[in-house]
Amino acid sequence: MIRLNFSGIGGIKKIQKYEKKLMPFIKAVDKRQQDFYRTIDDWDLAFQIEKYVKSIKGKYKEVVVLGIGGSALGARLLQGAFQPVYGAREIRLHVVDSIDPVLISELEEHLNLRKTLFLVVSKSGNTIETLSQYFLFRKKTDLAALEAKDHFVFITDPKEGFLRKISEEDEILVFDVPEKVGGRFSVLTAVGLLPAALMGVDISGMLEGAREMRDRFLSDDFDNNLCFQLSALQFMACENGKNSTVLMPYSERLKNFSDWFKQLWAESTGKISASGKNVGCTPISALGVADQHSLLQLFMEGPDDKLFMFLTVTDFDHDFVIPVPHFIGGEDRWKDVPFHFLEEVSFEKLLKIECRATIDSLTEKKRDNMVIELEKIDAKTMGALVMLFEGAAAFLGEFLEINVFDQPGVERGKELTRKYLVEE
Ligand code: PA5
Repeated sequence: MIRLNFSGIGGIKKIQKYEKKLMPFIKAVDKRQQDFYRTIDDWDLAFQIEKYVKSIKGKYKEVVVLGIGGSALGARLLQGAFQPVYGAREIRLHVVDSIDPVLISELEEHLNLRKTLFLVVSKSGNTIETLSQYFLFRKKTDLAALEAKDHFVFITDPKEGFLRKISEEDEILVFDVPEKVGGRFSVLTAVGLLPAALMGVDISGMLEGAREMRDRFLSDDFDNNLCFQLSALQFMACENGKNSTVLMPYSERLKNFSDWFKQLWAESTGKISASGKNVGCTPISALGVADQHSLLQLFMEGPDDKLFMFLTVTDFDHDFVIPVPHFIGGEDRWKDVPFHFLEEVSFEKLLKIECRATIDSLTEKKRDNMVIELEKIDAKTMGALVMLFEGAAAFLGEFLEINVFDQPGVERGKELTRKYLVEE
């Protein structure tokens, strides 16, 4: 399903020196009492979600996720993987992740409220951006005399927060975000699973893939533990002064995955370590092939301070041959077309060859890189991929001697926002 290829750094042997840390790190992660890898065993949750989705079949045309940061990016990564960019769908998912008035007013104008379901997602239930989005759309549905309980579902903390309180007062259906699962680690809870199920994704398959990767995450066999391998490589890169990590999928379907990765890596690793050092791996998202014509120049000849992670897909499940024009009859306008090497070449083949060329050119320049190879993009693989990165982030916390599960650095901005709002 997923393979890691380390040939761009000279093979897996380069990170073998970290093997002895694997067992102690598994124990250390367990001690932190985080549940992101345990809640995926909640069989009842998938059942409840599927039951709910069946019960509302045909009722809504659009589903809007109101949320921000970790409460939006997970849904967005699944939207990118599973919802086609063009063409109609039975239900179309939108993920707001913004309070930009232009975007919000465009969405407002676009929506037919009667046919819209809003998923209000906030672990704390108190996030200003999310509540502002909710207040706006709640007012709209109230003015349209629509029952709140027919148009809103909340995904929030099991006990605390403002959303939980309103849900009780207004009898709004709630799915819980488990207490010990933070925003950016919540994709495999109702936060990601409900939007996914509404898009028609096989969420049981997603959880199955996640469980397979989780078993590897907890395995003391270095060769089997892909999360540890990824984390060890990231740590080694940081130790060697490669403080930035470029994630470059060669698939449009994985573009949003990079945005989720950015948050996971940045908010989890940018910390002050136990020994008082400012540490962190700066994530950069890129996309093949588009960024070959944008960022690649910098990657090749700019500062050698980056680790490159490529995400490739073996089977795109769609493909067609590029129809190179031929010399036709007496016409000679195609005679000199210098692209005969494209004959019989398909789009998938072209994309893969360009990917190979990019990887090889970086390797020639001795720029550290590795490849995460996905067999295909389906529910199972996406569940496994999310767990791969979550598990790797957890191990990174142990390598860097930090708590990857908190985000004290963003609190000051929140405090100041509240202060300025009160003062205005
Ligand atoms: O990853 C995180 O914990 C954060 O990005 C949060 O998801 C984000 O701040 C939103 O918080 P909440 O889910 O409480 O609304």
